[in-house]
Amino acid sequence: MKFFVDSADIEEIGELADTGLIDGVTTNPSLIAKSGRNFLDVIKEICSVVEGPVSAEVTALDSVTMLKEAEVLRGLAPNVAIKVPLTMDGLKACKVLTDDGAKVNVTLCFNANQALLAAKAGASYISPFIGRLDDMGQDGMELIEEIREIYDNYDFDTEILAASIRNINHVKSCALIGADVATVPGSVIKQLAKHPLTDKGLEGFMADWAKTGQSIL
Ligand code: G3P
Repeated sequence: MKFFVDSADIEEIGELADTGLIDGVTTNPSLIAKSGRNFLDVIKEICSVVEGPVSAEVTALDSVTMLKEAEVLRGLAPNVAIKVPLTMDGLKACKVLTDDGAKVNVTLCFNANQALLAAKAGASYISPFIGRLDDMGQDGMELIEEIREIYDNYDFDTEILAASIRNINHVKSCALIGADVATVPGSVIKQLAKHPLTDKGLEGFMADWAKTGQSIL
């Protein structure tokens, strides 16, 4: 499973990119607003520190303007992926963009039929929002399972990009189900490496090593 960072914080992205564990980045208008920075500058900077796809979202609601915005965003860097909302206009723009060779991430997916339409529109990625479904008392993970089954039934190339991930259990479940990508907040990515027994074990090893009086270097 690939890991994308769900962030527009260039410092956090750079730090995670240095680990070599990051395959791409997703942003959205809320994350851009949170950064307090110019959208186009932020996307350009992220693209310079991450080799993989960097999702930049259009903000128009009609397909004609979406395509104009997409042209600007695609001009920023070769690894920009255009993010469009899962609306009829978004799907229409998706088809035009993918036919033109762009990578397109269709976002705000909340049911399997929407995901089916995105695949038919040639989307490179479909972004089902797990956490927001959980917030409503639904099971976000069930949606990932359904999309996996449908895409496998028809050999769709569209990658399932699990989004709105809130905790490490979401990440594990996505990997078990076979999501292609999980876009994860930086804080959750860091938690993935943590276990109290790892810390305790390391402490013990270090204490015993100190007793030997040796050093490797
Ligand atoms: O990038 C979209 C998505 O991951 C948003 O997550 O936590 O705002 O539901 P959240």
